[in-house]
Amino acid sequence: MKTNNIILIGFMGVGKGSVAREIVKNSSYIAIDTDDLIESIANKKVKKIFEEDGEAYFRSLEKDISLWLEKSVKNTLISTGGGFYKVKNLKKIGTIVLLDSPFEKIIKRITDHPNAKAKLKKRPLLANMKAAKELYKERRPEYMKLADIVVDVTDKSALECTKEILKKVKKHA
Ligand code: S3P
Repeated sequence: MKTNNIILIGFMGVGKGSVAREIVKNSSYIAIDTDDLIESIANKKVKKIFEEDGEAYFRSLEKDISLWLEKSVKNTLISTGGGFYKVKNLKKIGTIVLLDSPFEKIIKRITDHPNAKAKLKKRPLLANMKAAKELYKERRPEYMKLADIVVDVTDKSALECTKEILKKVKKHA
């Protein structure tokens, strides 16, 4: 059965949140974000969950959310944390859209942001840039393999990405 959900996947800082907000502005989609859901379930910030409960616990919450999404969510734009794609049932949740960009461009996008410090601080897996680059190298082929649609977001505005995504999703349906 078709869920009519769009799932945004991609590396930390690639712009999933900004693109999700722009899609909402320009379509009839309602959006939810897996990190937001986790923060409300755990009643604490992602960074705190990593610090106090560990990454494995965070991943178990992602799994719980994925089961709920598959069972209960339709006609929704779902933005995800950069590691959410590892849940086993992603394909069953909806059409998977990868926001793709080279690692250096993603980091530049974050560091150029007026709120760069906060953006880096809230992401524990960006604390060590060398490790983050390794993680990117490991994940990119996996993102590519899973994606139904790939959008190169490099040097594109959120609105440009939105138009491209909505067009490609319509074609894919
Ligand atoms: C993570 C990405 C983060 C957040 C958590 C883990 C990851 O979300 O879910 O810090 O494993 O890539 P963003 O992709 O929104 O930064």
